[in-house]
Amino acid sequence: MSLQITPVNPSDPSSLDQYLVAATVLHKHETPAFPPPTRRNLERMFDHPWPGTVQETYVALAAGEVVGFLNVEHYTEDNLDKANVEIGVSPAHRRRGFGRELLAFGEERARDLGKKTVNSHSAWTLPELNLVAPDEDGPAFARAMGYRDALPEVNRVLDLSTVDESALDEMLAHARAKADGYRLIRWNDPTPDDIVHDIAYLDGRLLADAPMGDTGWEPMNVDAERIRRTEEAIIARGRTSFHTAMVHEETGRVVAWTTINADDQCEWHGWQQITIVDPDHRGHRLGALVKVENLRWYREENPKVTRIDTFNAAENSYMISINEQMGFRPQYAFQNWRKDF
Ligand SMILES: CC(C)(COP(=O)(O)OP(=O)(O)OC[C@H]1O[C@@H](n2cnc3c(N)ncnc32)[C@H](O)[C@@H]1OP(=O)(O)O)[C@@H](O)C(=O)NCCC(=O)NCCS
Repeated sequence: MSLQITPVNPSDPSSLDQYLVAATVLHKHETPAFPPPTRRNLERMFDHPWPGTVQETYVALAAGEVVGFLNVEHYTEDNLDKANVEIGVSPAHRRRGFGRELLAFGEERARDLGKKTVNSHSAWTLPELNLVAPDEDGPAFARAMGYRDALPEVNRVLDLSTVDESALDEMLAHARAKADGYRLIRWNDPTPDDIVHDIAYLDGRLLADAPMGDTGWEPMNVDAERIRRTEEAIIARGRTSFHTAMVHEETGRVVAWTTINADDQCEWHGWQQITIVDPDHRGHRLGALVKVENLRWYREENPKVTRIDTFNAAENSYMISINEQMGFRPQYAFQNWRKDF
């Protein structure tokens, strides 16, 4: 059966509907505990792209029926030789060659754009954490297509009905005892002018500091102007961000920072995003301090949220230990795949 791969175009509502059908089937099969895709968020993705990122989106039909999707993402401000290709085929339509055809299409786009490396990801089984993928299709497919595993990643979820406040109090007491000379600040977007350069510096460090395995992702080129463009997209996508940071009083610099955010489509859910401490200021438990303080502030302001999700490289033991102390527990594992042309 031949596969029809067509671009999703925001001015063609039926293509958006078709994409949503494919994304919803995959969501239910792979990650049902995450917030579901919505039509509104899909429209916003087209209207407000992330700065430095170009996303091409396709839907796959066979005999008029939606069978899968393809995203080809590439970058204009860093990671210039990379493309990220995401494909999904509905479970009812697998092992008919559709995945192979979608990936070939995505790789051809990457080659046409002059890219040298393609990254992708799939569900993964991690027996040591009792995490079992819904099936082994993704890894078997990726290997058969010549991809190598580059970095296992673990999603942990915090069920807010089970948070142990006394454990959080204890974490804060330990952290505060080591954090003399630092002062806490917090804000919603946009970032105040007087700290935006420090935030750009910390944001740009993230991919340099976090374990990236063999993925080959370069640190992003972030400056204050890019932070502003990103904030505009975040706000336009209906997301509210809660940031907590520590200022080093002697220098006045922001040296530790964390963010939780969520969009207006899902009132029960938040995403724990970046947490970073400047290397010169590690050892003061600033990471634990900002995370616990931010969580408490976020909960006060968002009483309907019941679950917060976060992602870490499986080997990021420092951040994982903070998350585990806060009550985050493993939910899904993923593998990052890579192929070089
Ligand atoms: C991965 C995925 C896209 C494959 O789609 P598909 O249409 O079933 O893939 P194909 O039929 O084109 O399979 C191509 C080859 O991959 C390999 N393969 C795919 N699934 C496999 C499985 N469960 N076991 C062993 N090999 C498998 C086989 O070599 C297959 O060729 P063959 O059928 O001639 O033996 C689909 O399973 C999926 O959507 N999974 C969830 C999303 C995902 O993991 N995407 C990212 C993958 S990098």
